[in-house]
Amino acid sequence: MMNGYIKIEQSPPLQGEAELVGAKNAVLVIMASLLLTSGKSRLMNVPCSTDVLHMIKLLKELGAHVTFVSEEHFLEVDTTGVNRWTVSAEIMKKMRASILVMGSLLSRFGYCDVALPGGCVIGERPIDYHLKNFEKMGALIDINGEFLQARTPNKLVGQRLVLAYPSVGATENLIMLATLAQGTTEIINAALEPEVLDFITVLKKMGASIEIELPATIIVEGVNNLVPIEHTIMMDRLEAGSLLLATAATGGEIYLPQAQADMLDVLLLKLEEMGHKIIADSTKQGIRLKATKYPRAVSFKTGPYPSFPTDLQAPMMVLQCLASGTSVIEETVYENRLLHVRELQKMGAQIQVNYNKAIINGVEELYGAPVIASDIRASCALVIAGLVATGKTIMTGIKHWQRGYETLEKKLITLGAYLHVELSDKDQPSLTQVTDSLLEEAGV
Ligand code: UD1
Repeated sequence: MMNGYIKIEQSPPLQGEAELVGAKNAVLVIMASLLLTSGKSRLMNVPCSTDVLHMIKLLKELGAHVTFVSEEHFLEVDTTGVNRWTVSAEIMKKMRASILVMGSLLSRFGYCDVALPGGCVIGERPIDYHLKNFEKMGALIDINGEFLQARTPNKLVGQRLVLAYPSVGATENLIMLATLAQGTTEIINAALEPEVLDFITVLKKMGASIEIELPATIIVEGVNNLVPIEHTIMMDRLEAGSLLLATAATGGEIYLPQAQADMLDVLLLKLEEMGHKIIADSTKQGIRLKATKYPRAVSFKTGPYPSFPTDLQAPMMVLQCLASGTSVIEETVYENRLLHVRELQKMGAQIQVNYNKAIINGVEELYGAPVIASDIRASCALVIAGLVATGKTIMTGIKHWQRGYETLEKKLITLGAYLHVELSDKDQPSLTQVTDSLLEEAGV
């Protein structure tokens, strides 16, 4: 069977306006949190990425009834029939976000059996913060090879939990565990990404008692019961960032009416430092970017929100490859998230890697080449590089692109990009219309 690929050709400056989809990093945890309730919840603005389809499969395996009308971005999940708490190794290995059902399953049922997680190849990505704090609240964890069994022999009890690093997933899992625990839980050095805040909004709608205290403490007062909800998922700030970066790279102009500048402050600052013009009002929605023809290189460092998002580091690197001067990019969130460097080097980029730092000397041109995407955000970087490189770029590893972006390729094409997605047979179902029954037929 032929592998899927994206063919990208050097494109004119991107021009126009684009709508955004719902945020992947908000929808996955919100879907997982529905297991805290019994009954029918409805989610609007749900993107149709393969990670969402895998989460649907996971919820169905546990006994939930799920209806997804992909073209309306509408998802209904009825958790009344949930009667299992084992997550198959097959799903766990496909999507690291599967670990987010640990908090909700343990919290509601007191049981959870999972295989150890998969996801992107970006370093070790341990789950020690999750497990250590589950134990602190009274869970018993047994790890046997690749399998993990968690049990709560007694009601979980709220604790003061300190995270050594503001992990998004650990913060989310611990909040879920605390919502139905006895007493108060304090999570110190918690992650406060906008997606975490959207998730907290959902939990509050369910009836959870959650407060945020400066500088980064989340306080959860346990309650006895949570109820189903309706919620519209926040817009994807990372998709907004990717569209801005693609447009800036090609020297174009774009308007994103739904994007919120106050969720992308450091990215916008860095784009301005490069010489690009940004028109945005932090109190209102909407970001306009008009690219400079003579971009200057800028250095930056990734970090937890509101610092520069690690998920936009790879696409921002492409811009530095073609900017005038030298830049230093320091990746502080993941120890191994510079795998796209090798692929950009194949396209003529001048980059040296020193542990977690990339030192980039801007060049006049990148050249089209066969490249491989190794994670979601690397796939975005390579597509952007393909848009500005001379000749033709063929990117394989498109399952990563499909995991993160619902229809970004269509938006780029509408803005003027020359790209073509060729799916392999096994990739096909994920991008077609998916309803409950189709999903089963597709075996997704
Ligand atoms: C989430 C996002 C991902 C984003 C990342 C950081 C989702 C579905 N994914 O991933 O797109 O890149 O946040 O913004 O929301 N760590 C530990 N021990 C732990 C947990 C984490 O050492 O128990 C480390 C990780 O190895 C990593 C860092 O903490 O180096 C950040 O990871 P984390 O914030 O947990 O990322 P995810 O929640 O997996």
